[in-house]
Amino acid sequence: MRHDHLLSAGQLDRADIEGLLDRAARIAADPETVRDRLTDSLLALCFFEPSTRTKLSFEAATKRLGGDVIDMGSVDSSSVTKGESLADTVRVIEGYADGIVLRHPSEGAAKLAAEHVSVPVCNAGDGAGQHPSQTLLDLYTMREAAGLDDLTVGIVGDLKYGRTVHSLAAALTEFDARMHFVSPPSLQLPRSVQYDLHEAGARLREHESLDGLLPELDVLYVTRIQRERFPDEDEYREVAGQYRIDETTLANARDDLTIMHPLPRVDEIAPTVDDTDHATYFQQAHNGVPVRMALLDALLGGEEA
Ligand code: CP
Repeated sequence: MRHDHLLSAGQLDRADIEGLLDRAARIAADPETVRDRLTDSLLALCFFEPSTRTKLSFEAATKRLGGDVIDMGSVDSSSVTKGESLADTVRVIEGYADGIVLRHPSEGAAKLAAEHVSVPVCNAGDGAGQHPSQTLLDLYTMREAAGLDDLTVGIVGDLKYGRTVHSLAAALTEFDARMHFVSPPSLQLPRSVQYDLHEAGARLREHESLDGLLPELDVLYVTRIQRERFPDEDEYREVAGQYRIDETTLANARDDLTIMHPLPRVDEIAPTVDDTDHATYFQQAHNGVPVRMALLDALLGGEEA
């Protein structure tokens, strides 16, 4: 990978993605080969929004590469509460660490941070913008389950605020996937995302219902309605719970349909689906470790061992 930072999925072409996924697969098959790759390296975890998977899997990945982390902790316990700017915060932290993983509620925050530091910045989610390392583990999971060629993917839920969707759609376009976006009208893909996808030649269709679509799909990517991003709780209540995947929904699905979800889920997928062969979302979350090991190795470790 020829980039200093990972800020958006759009900066990765197909060769970049395949190289990282291949590296992740080699690491998953034989983690011993990379266990000293980041010895003496420190990664700063700066999470201005809650996280379980992204934060812990970046920490696990760093430690499994022989490195260590420093953690800014919660915003409430940091000097952000005293009014310190993001630019000042990351300029200080670059003196403590060799790379920064940043999650922030503002779209564009990771790009802004990268403009102020010389260590690699990895965007771990910027508001309703992008979540590119999630996309890498999503693609890794899809490749294992269904391959990335000639893929038909349904993406359902909150397409407006869902940053994992925005990143994933850009990356799937690199693989010429057929994409079906399913959402209420108020939660369709933002115009700017639609514009970029059309410019990139994406093959996409938009729907309000999953009816009739399931038999076509190789992968169903389910997302949570991002309650925390709604300006108005009433607007959230109008759309909450509209798409729930359960055994009845899946009656028309192909036997080999792969169901994914970036997690956390609320009620989008019934727990009974967890016991079916379709359910891939926990494996998807686990894939975050080898994929982020590959990413950190590429960003901080230099040439491959
Ligand atoms: N998928 C994901 O970003 O999960 P977290 O919010 O727990 O990091």
